Amino acid sequence: MKITTADRFYVTTPIYYVNGIPHIGHAYTTILADVLTRYHRLFGKPAYFLTGTDEHGLKIQQAADTAGMGPKAYCDSMVGNFMELWERLGIRYDRFIRTTDDDHIAYVQEILQRLWEAGEIYSSPYQGWYCIPDERFWTEKDLVEGNCPECGRPVIELEEENYFFKMGSYREWLVEHIEANPDFIFPVTRKNEVLGFLRQGLADLCISRPKSRLEWGIPLPFDSKYVTYVWFDALLNYVSAVAETAGPGGEENWWPADLHLIGKDIVTTHCVYWPTMLKAADLPLPKRIAAHGWWLVEEEKMSKSRGNVVRPLDLAQQYGVDAFRYFLMKDMTLGQDRSFSEVDLVRRYNSDLANDLGNALSRVTKMVQRYRGGLLNPPDGLDEAPEAEMKEVATRVKESVPDAIGALEVSRAVDEVMELVRATNRYLESREPWQLAKDEQKGNLLDATLYTAAESLRLAGVLLSPVMPAKMTELLAQLGITLEEAGGDYESLTAWGVLAAGGSVPGGDSLFPRAELPEDLQD
Ligand code: MSP
Repeated sequence: MKITTADRFYVTTPIYYVNGIPHIGHAYTTILADVLTRYHRLFGKPAYFLTGTDEHGLKIQQAADTAGMGPKAYCDSMVGNFMELWERLGIRYDRFIRTTDDDHIAYVQEILQRLWEAGEIYSSPYQGWYCIPDERFWTEKDLVEGNCPECGRPVIELEEENYFFKMGSYREWLVEHIEANPDFIFPVTRKNEVLGFLRQGLADLCISRPKSRLEWGIPLPFDSKYVTYVWFDALLNYVSAVAETAGPGGEENWWPADLHLIGKDIVTTHCVYWPTMLKAADLPLPKRIAAHGWWLVEEEKMSKSRGNVVRPLDLAQQYGVDAFRYFLMKDMTLGQDRSFSEVDLVRRYNSDLANDLGNALSRVTKMVQRYRGGLLNPPDGLDEAPEAEMKEVATRVKESVPDAIGALEVSRAVDEVMELVRATNRYLESREPWQLAKDEQKGNLLDATLYTAAESLRLAGVLLSPVMPAKMTELLAQLGITLEEAGGDYESLTAWGVLAAGGSVPGGDSLFPRAELPEDLQD
């Protein structure tokens, strides 16, 4: 079997600004990281999944002021919004890093000191235009009609002495690295965007903020009158989180990351600032940075200020956590934008989960109950064309899922498995076990049919378990098996014939009862 991914899998999400309220965009990235982690573990790869919160900088300080709290107390009061939501959405990370964690702060200072001593950082007067919400300096030519080119909001003019990282000196090296490693930036449109950006030249990066203007940050180790620019601090979370284990060699050495998942609005910081910082600090680069598109609401980006935020928990409560996860994974193609619609979610739920998967399971378990007293009899040497065909589909699917996941095509991976489910339904229609049950002579064929269908659904359950962990555990339980019982490695989990002879198939409640559209969405 071919698994195209690296031997170990270290995946990260962006660390979210702690003052925001998590919406479907944040939930999407974090669920995606969780799903990819679970797939890699299923394939037998050790995996590490990092997420967390970005807690320094002017925006947070201002939000804390507005709330009438100290910045750390404010962050402490907000971080639970993320942790609780991730818990409710079935997300199991290995570490939740906060940039106010002591080990992170110490690590950032260590890197700053190292770069300072290596002459990679210098001090110089600075004049520029500053966007407060984005915390970014722009040059005059960057501005669009006098406003921030990224968010369109007004900028303010600032002049002060600051510290700079010699980012510009890495321009050619970075262009070469991106060109020599076509997988480094995904998808290719983002790669071209970064190369286009680099072609215009690359300035040095201002990495300090005077404390007189901003106090809430990590003090520069070599000048305590300054704090660290929030992006310089935040990006380092990806290494600091695993720094304790980042010694040379050994199983515990997680850095470099195999995959940084980011949104398309933070490509420059991740694909330009971050690799140059690592290079200067003599650290290896992440293997891949994948930028996804936005979840839009009526063609607009979701944001607190537009008041069009889709709340993940409401949807998960209404339709179930796993159905929500399934919808996000199935309906988003990594890299593209996608309009969110609850109507689409309900349609997807009813067609794939209620009709195809849920129905197949309840048909099979009910027939085993009705015709075989709840016990599965493996067929006696019977292997005709329809059964052979089902096995073929099963083999194809278990081989293509790792390929699709390695290529970051989760939607395709899910599709492949659903094809197995649909093939199972077609197989049942063609064998008509309800007719076979009427004829005692056909007992062996009935056994073969029920076994083949149950085994296909078991495999579908295994292969969908990273996307819908709780529901697929339930599916397997209805077939009388657990993931653990099916064997340790991917080969044995996905081998044909795991369901035991004479095994009991307890069945149970409908896995995905049909969903109704809320009244206000019905037309
Ligand atoms: N704190 C920085 C990231 C630092 S990483 C070292 C940040 N935080 S954020 O909370 O504003 O955004 C986090 C992520 O959410 C970004 O990847 C952004 O693209 C993503 N999304 C914000 N709105 C989104 C949608 N509407 N849809 C999908 N993702 C979106 O940036």
